[in-house]
Amino acid sequence: MTTLKSFKTRGRIALGALLLGALASSLWAAEPAAADGSATNAVPAAVKPHLTGAELYSIHCNRCHAERYPTERTAAQWKTIMLHMQIRANLPGKQARLILQYLQENSGR
Ligand code: HEC
Repeated sequence: MTTLKSFKTRGRIALGALLLGALASSLWAAEPAAADGSATNAVPAAVKPHLTGAELYSIHCNRCHAERYPTERTAAQWKTIMLHMQIRANLPGKQARLILQYLQENSGR
């Protein structure tokens, strides 16, 4: 009886050690990902996941001509201009919308 009991105890200990090992290794495996996550601060602006309308504007809208001040045009004029300039600058819709929003919020009304 005692041998059977000690077998069971040893089995539990072995199982516990196995689970601990699995937990420890999964924590260890997760560590590099956490290190990557904290490194995002060092990512240069060009690959920053979320650029603002103002940032996109200063990146794209002075490539071909000097950038215009948002106050130079009304919100309605910016809408028309962006229809043309989105195509000229070959911008994805999401970026064009952010730029338009920036220009309209700072427009000459
Ligand atoms: C690929 C080159 C190119 C890029 C990039 C570009 N533009 Fe232009 N833009 C032009 C040209 C060429 C003209 C003049 C001819 C025209 O109006 O189509 C112009 C004209 C303009 C005008 C004057 C329009 C008018 O009716 O007086 C504004 C304002 C303007 N662009 C804003 C922008 C903004 C905002 C962006 C960024 C989204 C931008 N441009 C990006 C080429 C470009």
